[in-house]
Amino acid sequence: MYRILTICCFLLIMCCCSEVPGVENVVPAAPEEEKEIAPEEEKEKSELAKLMSEIDKNYKVVEEMSGWYKYKKKHWKIILESGRNMVVLTKSIRRKFSKPDDWTYQELMEKMQIAAEKLVEVAKDKDKEGALEDAQWQVRLLRRTCAKCHKHLDIHIYPQLYKKKHKELPPAP
Ligand code: HEC
Repeated sequence: MYRILTICCFLLIMCCCSEVPGVENVVPAAPEEEKEIAPEEEKEKSELAKLMSEIDKNYKVVEEMSGWYKYKKKHWKIILESGRNMVVLTKSIRRKFSKPDDWTYQELMEKMQIAAEKLVEVAKDKDKEGALEDAQWQVRLLRRTCAKCHKHLDIHIYPQLYKKKHKELPPAP
């Protein structure tokens, strides 16, 4: 009888002891789950990031010129080209990376496309009075959409490219 009791006690203790490491194992499991999701998002992101860098290249060209007080024919040509590129790129992003559940994102993407399209229109009609100011205004509208959307999504690109954004993010309240 005592022997059975002793064995029971032993078994109980063993069970309790073995459960302790079991509980510990559960704790690090949570970050593992996050890791599993990350690579899939990464895949989608890299193509969007590529398109964004292309937009960035074209945008920087027109931005650099936006402080000038006069454009020559060749400059208008550059603006026209950059504007066209941005329209194509934005359309492509809207087609491939639309986010129907994020209204702000959708709206800002559309605004970016509209600003780029208007920039093209202005550059086509470069001899019209006020064309220079109109072009610079559209560049300013473009910049506004970049800044607003990146802020909306918590993307901090400048000064360093946003690489570490996930780590920078504070835990959700
Ligand atoms: C409606 C939203 C939205 C708008 C507007 C927008 N961006 Fe972005 N941008 C993003 C998102 C989302 C990413 C992150 C892409 C990723 O990493 O998957 C990004 C990333 C970037 C990057 C980093 C790309 C890389 O190499 O990783 C640059 C540069 C950039 N955007 C420039 C611009 C510029 C310039 C404009 C405006 C002319 C602009 N963006 C407008 C959403 C937007």
